[in-house]
Amino acid sequence: PAFTDYQAESATISQGLVESNHAGYTGTGFVNYDNVTGSYVQFTVSVTAAGNYPLTLRYANGTTIDRPMDITVNGSPAAPGLSFPGTGAWPTWAEKTVTASLTAGANTIRAAATTVNGGPNLDRLRVTAPSDSQPPTA
Ligand code: GCU
Repeated sequence: PAFTDYQAESATISQGLVESNHAGYTGTGFVNYDNVTGSYVQFTVSVTAAGNYPLTLRYANGTTIDRPMDITVNGSPAAPGLSFPGTGAWPTWAEKTVTASLTAGANTIRAAATTVNGGPNLDRLRVTAPSDSQPPTA
């Protein structure tokens, strides 16, 4: 498949709750991060080939204040302080994509809040297959 979805409500959650009171989520709900620094959702993503994979987080932030998160892959920073700005309302979902290097086999992808407001509401992680970066041969 061109992509695989990992639902936040099925991931490992530290300091957060699975909820479903704001419409528009996929799967069976979303994670409401506790409003504390360091709350996180962690996904285990297995890929057959190492490469640079677009990682797309679907989220909502019904406030007007950014809810940045550190995105780490296997414990190393992939996107420190990635911005998750307001989406206008809690049932309004948006996506943020970063590209990160994954190794063949299992990878741990964590999205951890960096402010006392906690993270945004997180619906899912979509991992997209790397595009072919080789130029065509003549
Ligand atoms: C509201 C909202 C939650 C959200 C929370 C927050 O309570 O209903 O879905 O997670 O605000 O500010 O984090």
